Amino acid sequence: MKDINEIRADFPILQRKIYGKPLIYFDNGATTQKPRCVIDRQEEVFTEFNGNIHRGIHYLSDASSEAFENARETVKSFLNAGKKEEIIFTSGTTGSINGIAFSFGERYINPGDEILVSWLEHHANIVPWQMMCERKGAILKVIPVDDSGEIVLSEYYRLLSPRTRLVSVTQASNALGTVLPLKEIIAAAHAIDVPVMVDGAQGVQHGNIDVTDLDCDFYVFSGHKIYGPNGIGVLFGKEKWLTELPPFQGGGDMVDKVTFEKTTYNELPFKFEAGTMNYPGAICLASALDYLEGLGRENIAAMEKELLRYATERLSSIKGLKIYGNAKEKISTISFLLEKIHQYDTGMILDKMGIAVRTGTHCAQPVMDRYGIDGTVRASLCFYNTKDEIDSLVAGIERVKIMFA
Ligand code: ALA
Repeated sequence: MKDINEIRADFPILQRKIYGKPLIYFDNGATTQKPRCVIDRQEEVFTEFNGNIHRGIHYLSDASSEAFENARETVKSFLNAGKKEEIIFTSGTTGSINGIAFSFGERYINPGDEILVSWLEHHANIVPWQMMCERKGAILKVIPVDDSGEIVLSEYYRLLSPRTRLVSVTQASNALGTVLPLKEIIAAAHAIDVPVMVDGAQGVQHGNIDVTDLDCDFYVFSGHKIYGPNGIGVLFGKEKWLTELPPFQGGGDMVDKVTFEKTTYNELPFKFEAGTMNYPGAICLASALDYLEGLGRENIAAMEKELLRYATERLSSIKGLKIYGNAKEKISTISFLLEKIHQYDTGMILDKMGIAVRTGTHCAQPVMDRYGIDGTVRASLCFYNTKDEIDSLVAGIERVKIMFA
């Protein structure tokens, strides 16, 4: 296992200074930084073998197609999916959820049907379902959360009904850090034959994910939040669903035969991959996943658990600081507010110290409404962060307090 200095040396951006201060990057929930291997792989794609995939008989097209399909294999192993046909590349989590919301709505949803989401969802796991409900006359139901930021399971069990057609929940809240009890959620839904979609955007990068063991029906995530490139994402779906669902986009590559009278569709996974896919993104995403496997996903989880413990302890000791989200199971994300100091002011002053945090509603306005606040300061940590950096954050917050005293 590499030590922390070796790990940090793998991420070139971590060496830079912001306003003359060493960068302290605590906005990993928004996007993660990229290791050298991902950056190098991108250069290699464009200097060595760039050619449009699945479309040519020439050398470069073959080489790109092979690397793209190998990337699919890497994602399949990373998620422990059963078949590589169950791995669809998309533009990201938002693209994946919109796609399934459209296809599922077209195929299965009738007026009066219900979709269940939780109160902790990112807008990307709310709005596509609302759009689908509006189109189909269906109803969106919401699983409530308690004051600690945990979903109320008894309410979930009560909301599940013969009208429920699909449950779509996040693996972990981007705003509060809460990890959801997915096994319980999935088991209860499956007991009445309801499929479950898991938004893994904030979960997949924090430890082992095994979609076979979890038994979820759909699992989605974004490349850029797991140390890979932007504009690439993944949709895992069980083969039986992907076979039944109609495609959510039409175009090249997703077809079998096209005539003006009737078009038939390609086999899985290509049926869901219309147009030129972001194959450089997929290939570089595979490099990011290989990098994480190299570090060891259990090691990553252990490092982040310790960072969360330390940061929670240190931040809790600051007078006038309130942490939002105290679930028993959390990813390494801490949302907080300082008494009488607006989150934007806190974030802006920390930025001047070289400390990057996120402020605002985190694309989770219902979560903020639940607590009656208009946003938080969010520090989202990951394995390349250090306790020294957390100490600097604490010192920075104390300075913010002095400035506003
Ligand atoms: N969804 C991203 C976040 O939580 C942008 O910051």
